[in-house]
Amino acid sequence: MDLHVADHPLIAHKLTVLRDEQTDSSRFRTLTDELVMLLSYEATRGIRTEPKEVTTPVSTTTGTALTAPRPVVVPILRAGLGMLEGMLKMLPTAEVGFLGMVRDDETFDVHTYAERLPADLTDRQVFVLDPMLATGGTLAMAIDFLLERGVSSVTAVCLVSAPEGVEAIADKYRGVTEVTVHTAALDERLNEKGYIVPGLGDAGDRLYG
Ligand code: PRP
Repeated sequence: MDLHVADHPLIAHKLTVLRDEQTDSSRFRTLTDELVMLLSYEATRGIRTEPKEVTTPVSTTTGTALTAPRPVVVPILRAGLGMLEGMLKMLPTAEVGFLGMVRDDETFDVHTYAERLPADLTDRQVFVLDPMLATGGTLAMAIDFLLERGVSSVTAVCLVSAPEGVEAIADKYRGVTEVTVHTAALDERLNEKGYIVPGLGDAGDRLYG
């Protein structure tokens, strides 16, 4: 597993406003959109491409095209839905699949309540969107699900991650080069309720509550 923690002043600034409890839902959604666009720049660095000839008004040259099959973007409902539009602005040709997962407040067990993914995931590059990586249970379940379906790489794009969750994912996928995590920030810890500290609260509630 490969971990990338963003190091950019614009990301740090937007994330600070996002964390602020005074930030309302409308602004929270806009900032999430902007943060995903910024994170997608690095998160898509490994996207498969091939040379493509293009004729400009002046001459013909060799450019770059995304290689088929198209990448797949998978937001984890609910909160991941807030990251979908931003990702699609950067990857407009991606196919979109959905996973609905919810974590039990007490046990932190994860329950999958919805799955609508492309029929054939063999050899696809998949970008999983979820603002929060807390215990890592949700992301691990999503990754396992996708790897079992034959995807060639899973890149998770997160906004705020806890060291406990990152460690859990790193332990589970140590040496698994197909798994990468990009996060805007690596926070201090999880509290007893499984909330990320300092975090930003419940991302699903702040987006849609
Ligand atoms: C939150 C968050 C992640 C998950 C992270 O979702 O959006 O999906 O918890 O926790 P974990 O790393 O400990 O598994 P939640 O279960 O609250 O559902 P929601 O998105 O519908 O609010």
